[in-house]
Amino acid sequence: MKATAKAPANIAFIKYWGKKDVALRIPYNPSISMNLSACTTTTTVEFSNKFSKDEVFGVEPTRVIEHINRMRKLAGVTSHVRVETTNNFPSSAGIASSASGFAALTIATAGALGLSCSEKELTALARLGSGSACRSIPDGFVKWDGEFAYSLYPSDYWDLRDIIVVVGKTAKKVSSSEGHEAVETSPYFKNRLEAIPERIRKIEAAFQEKNFQALGEVIEEDCLDMHRVMQTQVPPLYYWNDMTKNIMDAVKGWRNDGLPVYFTIDAGPNIHLLCEGKDEQRLLEKLQGFPGIEEVIPNKPAEGARLI
Ligand code: PMV
Repeated sequence: MKATAKAPANIAFIKYWGKKDVALRIPYNPSISMNLSACTTTTTVEFSNKFSKDEVFGVEPTRVIEHINRMRKLAGVTSHVRVETTNNFPSSAGIASSASGFAALTIATAGALGLSCSEKELTALARLGSGSACRSIPDGFVKWDGEFAYSLYPSDYWDLRDIIVVVGKTAKKVSSSEGHEAVETSPYFKNRLEAIPERIRKIEAAFQEKNFQALGEVIEEDCLDMHRVMQTQVPPLYYWNDMTKNIMDAVKGWRNDGLPVYFTIDAGPNIHLLCEGKDEQRLLEKLQGFPGIEEVIPNKPAEGARLI
């Protein structure tokens, strides 16, 4: 009763911020994301009657054990568990470690328990661990709507890049789980929900036409809109630092100089720069001379979570 799974982080183009149902982690709005090739979690889960207690290595155990309990119950198994997990990127810095973490944990646990679940059912299970984790299960470009997530296009559909610019590795002071729950206190939240259907329509059209400019414009608009809501919640959440803002300004300048690049930011200071594969080298050269950057992590679109 042992299995290992590997799952990618994902970056949302249309963001998930706010839960309609907190316990079930049902989002207020659909979100759309891309799986990230260079940011992965690998997790091994083993159940055995020989273990005298549950043990978790490499990550804070409380939510992991809650998730294991949910799945143990589903399988009718009572044995203790040993979980070992590693990320190949800094945790809790705005790269979604909870997404890759709970996606890998869900797939490895289902494998170790011998549960025969469909991909759709696995997305619903992963969602109960961490909302955005459900988007790390299907391949490539993924939409999460309500209970389930599914692939819109495979990873080789469009040669996009997400160049993550790491400008701060300190852990977040307020977790995104807590942040989601105060979303209704922002006076901008209602406007955000009203604007999202049109953004989803535009993103889906941009995908169909592979229109990068149209895609990038909606991605930036939705990122800034989510952060406006975060910054006006009670208590307010402000995730950017000076470097985040410096890079945001630089992106505008590079675009004016004819380099098609757009940014997005999650619940942390690091900034994700989106471009097409053909422009990756030019963008990396711009970043090379940029003061204050800690690390640059180029990602291609990736497959979803897998047993390995
Ligand atoms: O899954 P959570 O609770 O970590 O929420 C993630 C929220 C954002 O990363 C800020 C946006 C998103 O859609 O990924």
